[in-house]
Amino acid sequence: MTAVDDSTIRDPKRLRAEMVRALRDEEAITSDSVAAAFAAVPRHQFAPEASLELAYDLHRIVPVKKDENGLNVSVMSAAHLQGVMLEQADIAQGMKVLEIGSGGYNAALIQELVGSDGEVTTVDIDRDIVDRARLCLDDAGYRHVKTVLADGETGVPDGAPYDRIVVTAAAWDIPPSWIDGLTEKGRLVVPLTVCGTTRSIAFDRDGEGLLSRSYRLAHFVPMQGEGAAEERKAVLREGVVVQTDDVRVPLNAPALNHALDTPQLVRWSGAAWDLPDELDLYLTLNLPRAVRLHAAKDVVDQGLVKPSALVGVPALVSDNSIAYRTGRENEETGGFESGVIAHGPQAEALADQYAQLLRRWAEHHRRRGAATFRYLPGPAPSPLPQDAVLRRHGIVTASWA
Ligand SMILES: C[S@@+](CC[C@H](N)C(=O)[O-])C[C@H]1O[C@@H](n2cnc3c(N)ncnc32)[C@H](O)[C@@H]1O
Repeated sequence: MTAVDDSTIRDPKRLRAEMVRALRDEEAITSDSVAAAFAAVPRHQFAPEASLELAYDLHRIVPVKKDENGLNVSVMSAAHLQGVMLEQADIAQGMKVLEIGSGGYNAALIQELVGSDGEVTTVDIDRDIVDRARLCLDDAGYRHVKTVLADGETGVPDGAPYDRIVVTAAAWDIPPSWIDGLTEKGRLVVPLTVCGTTRSIAFDRDGEGLLSRSYRLAHFVPMQGEGAAEERKAVLREGVVVQTDDVRVPLNAPALNHALDTPQLVRWSGAAWDLPDELDLYLTLNLPRAVRLHAAKDVVDQGLVKPSALVGVPALVSDNSIAYRTGRENEETGGFESGVIAHGPQAEALADQYAQLLRRWAEHHRRRGAATFRYLPGPAPSPLPQDAVLRRHGIVTASWA
């Protein structure tokens, strides 16, 4: 008997209704307006190459374009993340919205949210993507959405000021055009990357700068063009990489590689370990010389590096030593306990410093959404405060309640 591809007989309308219900259950969608937008836009028409199952999957992206190394440069973002970001954006009827990073689907959702009195512009740096988005938008009946080919770094001044700017590529900085391009009560929703980890942050204007209202863990393809990230990566050995975007951090690859061959020092914090993405953010922004350590599966399987590095883990480095987080089951700390693995001549000192931070987070800041971000445009103060992240157009700071 010939197998029938289930995707050809499933009904997109039903899949869409199921998706909306599931997004509500998972609290990615919390408002009726965003739910109605997701129910209205035929998502599969913006991913004609994908199966219906993939198009309507909550958590999977649909690849659209890859670079010469096979890395995604454009994708249709996962529905879950799109729901979260549109809730963060709080878009109302009649608003003027700029989306940076096109695909068509998200712009169509935004068009539903702003209604016929609103205006939606979507800009992409890649001609293929703009052309594809235009076709999909026209096919699905969203002819009023304006598509623009440009580097989003400069915004789209033609339509400014915008009530909302929604960025859908991982940004490393916030260029002046995004702040200046907002109305006084405008909101910028942007996936901002610091030291290899990204949060979608909803920023409102605050004087000359921006103040965060909410943030959520996010994964995006990186911003290209003028605003591309300035970061350093060092391969310590095959399958072990450290990255940083802080110019003050020493990256001595041979010495750090040598350190990995020295015995592991393990220090348990005695503190609870849960809410891993919140702890990850806290460590990234509070470790004095933070890098992100990534290890491939075979390196982890050999026992050289702990599994936390499989998805990238905040690490503390000196010239010749490295320390990073680990964890273990421990009923006494509520199920799990955080700890530190350190290598190298300064392993003791780094492990102590790291463990102190693990305890401070568990004692004072262990809650979702505890951080507040600020973006201050203009020249950075000198010396740069320890808790500030230096960018081309300003500084990012994060404080914990
Ligand atoms: C995740 S995709 C966008 C997804 C889309 N919003 C959707 O509806 O699913 C990210 C897009 O950002 C674009 N991009 C990257 N850097 C950019 C830049 N500097 N200006 C404008 N677009 C950029 C990429 O070409 C890519 O198409």
